[in-house]
Amino acid sequence: MFNLILFGPPGVGKGTQSNKLIEKYGWIHLSTGDLLRSEIHRQTPLGIEADHIIKSGQLVPDEVVIGMISSALEANPHAKGFLFDGFPRTVAQAEALDKLLSLKKTAIHLVLALDVRDEELVHRLLIRGKSSGRKDDSDETVIRERIRVYKSQTFPVADYYAKFGKVVHVPGEGSIDDIFAALSREIDGKSEKAA
Ligand code: AP5
Repeated sequence: MFNLILFGPPGVGKGTQSNKLIEKYGWIHLSTGDLLRSEIHRQTPLGIEADHIIKSGQLVPDEVVIGMISSALEANPHAKGFLFDGFPRTVAQAEALDKLLSLKKTAIHLVLALDVRDEELVHRLLIRGKSSGRKDDSDETVIRERIRVYKSQTFPVADYYAKFGKVVHVPGEGSIDDIFAALSREIDGKSEKAA
């Protein structure tokens, strides 16, 4: 089993690269952003609560996303691995994930952190907002707030995993295929060492 966190700020390319990685490696893709948007689309009570928070660029409460991830892990008992995208976003979420994985007698093996300049992130998200209709992409003020929240609340998650020597930084600017090749090299190197 191999468990990977694809880490980085809004617009860095986590979703884009996750789709390619799960196709190559056959892992289960767990994106808390996608799970929350599905709740919003279905207008569940959780979705109605999350909608307001996401539109403002803030984080949904830890217990909500930890509950969603716990259910998703339970629902996939035979997975060959999990790719976490957009989770964990706080140190409390990282600690909870470690506990959930240890109950399954596994752990996080690698954290791949994509790095992109802030101005490029804003540029990408404003373009995506025009075509996707994502409400948290349509307003530059909200995009900048998401980046600020990432730096204050989410970046410490990288320090948390760095203490265990699990973090590798990969440049996130350039062609999507080149970035995918760089991520794949890191994964293949790590899984060979683990084998
Ligand atoms: P979430 O859905 O996780 O969004 P995000 O982290 O803000 O990330 P994005 O989806 O915006 O970007 P991405 O890195 O996936 O980039 P993408 O590949 O799409 O979260 C949304 C909200 O939900 C949060 O703000 C929060 O409120 C809530 N939430 C979610 N998880 C939570 C949690 N764990 N705890 C609490 N709250 C949570 O690429 C972006 C664009 O760039 C695309 O148009 C793409 O085509 C383009 N692009 C990609 N790669 C390249 C490249 N190499 N060159 C040029 N363009 C590129």
